[in-house]
Amino acid sequence: MQISGNTIFIPGATSGIGLALALRLKDKGNTVIVGGRRTEVLEQLAREHGFDTVRIDTTDAASIASASAEVIAKHPSLNVLVAMAGIMRIEDWHRPDGFLDDAEQVVTTNLLGPIRLIAAFIEQLQGQPDATIVTVSSGLAHAPLRVTPSYNATKAAIHMLSESVRLQLADTSVKVMELVPPAVATELLPGQSRSPVAVPLDAFVDEVMHLIETQPDAHEILVERVKFLRFGEVRGDYDQVVQTLNSTDPHAAS
Ligand SMILES: NC(=O)c1ccc[n+]([C@@H]2O[C@H](COP(=O)([O-])OP(=O)(O)OC[C@H]3O[C@@H](n4cnc5c(N)ncnc54)[C@H](OP(=O)(O)O)[C@@H]3O)[C@@H](O)[C@H]2O)c1
Repeated sequence: MQISGNTIFIPGATSGIGLALALRLKDKGNTVIVGGRRTEVLEQLAREHGFDTVRIDTTDAASIASASAEVIAKHPSLNVLVAMAGIMRIEDWHRPDGFLDDAEQVVTTNLLGPIRLIAAFIEQLQGQPDATIVTVSSGLAHAPLRVTPSYNATKAAIHMLSESVRLQLADTSVKVMELVPPAVATELLPGQSRSPVAVPLDAFVDEVMHLIETQPDAHEILVERVKFLRFGEVRGDYDQVVQTLNSTDPHAAS
């Protein structure tokens, strides 16, 4: 995607990476529509930053349908969807009550949500001369963090979904760009923003913006810090990567 001149919808931009990216993209001359569940935060973002906002719960098919219709009606030139909304849960798979509820929520939010969002926007995007679907996976798509099995699995699925949909849409105007964050200092897990080993949010988004600007056709946005996880199998040190990853604080690894 080009770094400016787009109309971009980011469901999952009320905090963290989504909000930081929304602010940077707006500063670069894009129209950015912010989505999320927290209406008071949406109102504050509209007031303080002039964003157009929409309430959306990406676990709810009806909410996706109504929010997408509203966004498309108000912004007929919308050409970028960033499927940012995501959750992470620590699970214990020794007993069903240690993981099943969380696993269902994680799959519904992190995998079914982006699939439904793409379905809601795919015709709109194909009607634009230059359009992009930005998916959001994780370094954990490529090396497992022991305490978050469902999260890792959904992010691996997002990676493969991105690879596959990109191939299928090669005959259209729609590109697929996968953002692959390492551990970033947000509240994805409670307390993660204070982790000394998470990449500071501003530094992460600076690097992401630089990569988009210099590699507008990149399939994956890979900041330096994620390459340790992303390329373990390629380098041949996967076992070492998994061991190192799981010997650190879980906040350090999402
Ligand atoms: N931070 C990291 O270390 C890291 C690493 C790799 C990948 N990622 C990915 O980056 C994305 C953003 O995470 P973050 O770190 O920025 O965490 P965050 O600060 O917790 O942000 C999550 C965002 O998703 C939204 N969201 C969650 N569930 C939603 C739902 N059902 N419907 C609509 N919006 C929903 C939240 O908004 P509301 O609460 O207002 O709904 C919020 O805006 C996620 O997909 C995450 O997996 C993060």
